[in-house]
Amino acid sequence: MGKREGFASSFGVLVAMAGSAVGLGNLWRFPYLVGTNGGAAFIIIYLACVLVLALPILYSEFIIGRRSQSNVFGAYKKLAPDSKWCNVGFIYVLCSITIISFYSVVGGWTIDYFVKAATFQFSSASADQLSGMFANTVTSTASPLVYMLVFLGITALIVLAGVKNGIEKYSKIMMPLLFILVIVIAIRSVTLENSYAGIEFLFKPDFSKITAQTFLDALGQAFFSLSVGSGSILTYASYVSRKENIVKLSAQTAISDTMFAIVAGVAIMPAVFAFGISPSEGPGLVFVTLPYIFNQLPFGSFLAVLFFFALFIAAITSSISMLEVIVAYLDEEFKLKRRTSIVLSLILIATLGVFCSLSQGIMSDVKILGNSIFDLFDKSSANIMLPLGGLIAVIFVGWRMKKAEYADEITSGGLVKFSKTTVGIFYFFIKYIAPVVIATIVIRSLF
Ligand code: TRP
Repeated sequence: MGKREGFASSFGVLVAMAGSAVGLGNLWRFPYLVGTNGGAAFIIIYLACVLVLALPILYSEFIIGRRSQSNVFGAYKKLAPDSKWCNVGFIYVLCSITIISFYSVVGGWTIDYFVKAATFQFSSASADQLSGMFANTVTSTASPLVYMLVFLGITALIVLAGVKNGIEKYSKIMMPLLFILVIVIAIRSVTLENSYAGIEFLFKPDFSKITAQTFLDALGQAFFSLSVGSGSILTYASYVSRKENIVKLSAQTAISDTMFAIVAGVAIMPAVFAFGISPSEGPGLVFVTLPYIFNQLPFGSFLAVLFFFALFIAAITSSISMLEVIVAYLDEEFKLKRRTSIVLSLILIATLGVFCSLSQGIMSDVKILGNSIFDLFDKSSANIMLPLGGLIAVIFVGWRMKKAEYADEITSGGLVKFSKTTVGIFYFFIKYIAPVVIATIVIRSLF
C-alpha cells in the first residue's frame, strides 16, 4: 500500500466522475431498457429516480468517501468506529465484482465492433444481416472471450498507472468527441424516413404499460448509469481534496450523464422504428441499429470507427471506477501491493466474465432462477445490490452521521456557502425521501 493518490484538479475530478458515470449504461443499457419497457413512461420514471433517489445517494457517497479518505470498508470503519457498519463494504465489493464481470463482456463487444468498423464490415449490410452479425458476435465461443480479456487487461493497466496519468488525458478528448458523435447520429436518426414513430415512442408516455417491474428497472438503471450504490463514487471521492465543491460536482456528473442518456435515446429509437427493428430487441439494440445509421451517413464508415473507439473509451473510464473499488479495498485493508490487488481481482473477474460471455452462446441453456448467467449478473446487481448499497449510504449519512458532520462536509468545512434551506432540503431527501422510496420500490417488486 503506497501513499494515497489524489486527483490533481477540479477538472480532473469532474472528468473522472463523469467518466465513471457515462458509459455503456447510457449508450447500450438505457436504450434497450427504454425499448423493452415501452418508451416514454419509462423515461419519465427514470428521470424522477435520478433526481429523487440517485442524486441523494451520489451526495451521500461523496460525503462518506471524502470525509473518510478511505476505501469502501475503511470508510465506514473510520466514520463509525466500534460498530459493525464496516461490513457493508463487502456488499460494495461484491456488487462491483458482479457488475464488472458482465460489463467487461459488453466492453469486449465494443472492441469487436471497433474492429468490424475499421475493416468496413457494416457497409451496405441490411438490418437482418446486422442482427445476424450481432448474434454471431456474442454467441461465438473464443472471440468474445479474447475481446473481454483485452478489455479487462486495458482496464487493469490504467488502474495500475493510476487514475491521474492514464485516464484524465484520454477522457478529456474522447468524452466530448463521443457526445458530438452521438448528436450527429441523433440528427440523422430523426431525419430518417418513418422515424416519427420512434420519436413518439420516446416522448409520448403510455402509462398503461407501467408495472412494478418498470419502477424497479428504472431505479436500477438510474443507479447503474450514475454509478451509485456500489462504492465507485465513494472510492473516487476519497481521492478528492477538501477544497472541492461536492454539490456542484455531483450535479455536473448527474447532468452530463442524463444528457448522454437522452441523446442516446434520440439517436437510437427513431432509427429503430425507421428500419423496422423491434424496440424490444434487447441487449443487441445499439449494436444492430448504429451500424445501420452509419451506412446512411456521409463518411459513415469513418464515423463508425470513431464512434466505436469513443464508446470503448467511455466503457473503460467506467470499468476502471469499478475495479478501483476492489483494488483500493484489497490495497488498504490487506496491505497488499497495488499490483497484487489488481492481479487477484483480475483472476476472479475474468473467471466470472468467462461464464457471463459463454452464457450468450454455448452455455445459454444454463438458467438460474429463469435467467442466463449474464442476465442474472446484470439484474441482480442493478435491481437488488445497487439499491441496497444506495440505501445503506443514505441511511448512514441520514441516521448515523451527525447532521453537523453532514453540513460540514457538504459545505467543504464552510468553504462553500449554501443557504441553510438548501442544506436542509438535501438532508431531508437523504434522510427520509430516498430511503423510504427505494425500500418501497424494491420490496413491492420483489414480492
Ligand atoms: N455508470 C457506468 C455506465 O453507465 C457503469 C458503472 C461504473 C457503474 N461504475 C459503476 C454502475 C458502479 C454501477 C455501479 O456505464
